[in-house]
Amino acid sequence: MSAYHVIHDPIIDRVLLTAEEIAAVVDDLASRIDADHAGEELALVTVLRGGLFFLADLSRRLHLPVTLDFMAISSYGSGEAVRITKDLDDPIEGRNVLVVEDIIDTGLTLNYLLKVLRGRSPASLEVCTLLDRDARRLADIPIDYRGVRIPDWFVVGYGLDLGGRYRNLPYIATVREEVMG
Ligand code: IMP
Ligand code: MG
Repeated sequence: MSAYHVIHDPIIDRVLLTAEEIAAVVDDLASRIDADHAGEELALVTVLRGGLFFLADLSRRLHLPVTLDFMAISSYGSGEAVRITKDLDDPIEGRNVLVVEDIIDTGLTLNYLLKVLRGRSPASLEVCTLLDRDARRLADIPIDYRGVRIPDWFVVGYGLDLGGRYRNLPYIATVREEVMG
């Protein structure tokens, strides 16, 4: 069952993480979160749309009681200024919040998001990211649960997009350099 290794798409370069490898990483993260939070309930907060698949898989590997909520964020131009385009539906005051991210790149998005969430007085506020690309990090982000550190390559699949496409790939792949300019 590895037919998807044969990739007939001009933008895809190489598979960085297969579906099986992603599942193993998600399993490991879930075990660590379960162990650290025994007896607690977690409010999982995810940033649309990239975190969708990771949240769906991670939440189903957790044994803790969890709730799911979503935010959407847009960045202007260079990505320096961010604003909330969809806020959480539920309050997080007094709750144990775990922000579930697809990838942390510059960290500017999450830095802004954490500031906003911290202002709402959660009991705890932690970060879990599937991918950590620290080569271009600008904001110092405390990462409590890190899946995989990746080199400075643009990736698509498993929620990550290029111009809105490729989110539904079951694996994570690098994009050809020619495509990225
Ligand atoms: P940051 O503010 O630079 O950390 O940007 C983080 C957000 O940019 C992520 O949550 C993704 O939505 C998006 N992003 C960053 N790198 C990639 C990538 O390689 N592929 C697809 N989306 C990315
Ligand atoms: Mg994102």
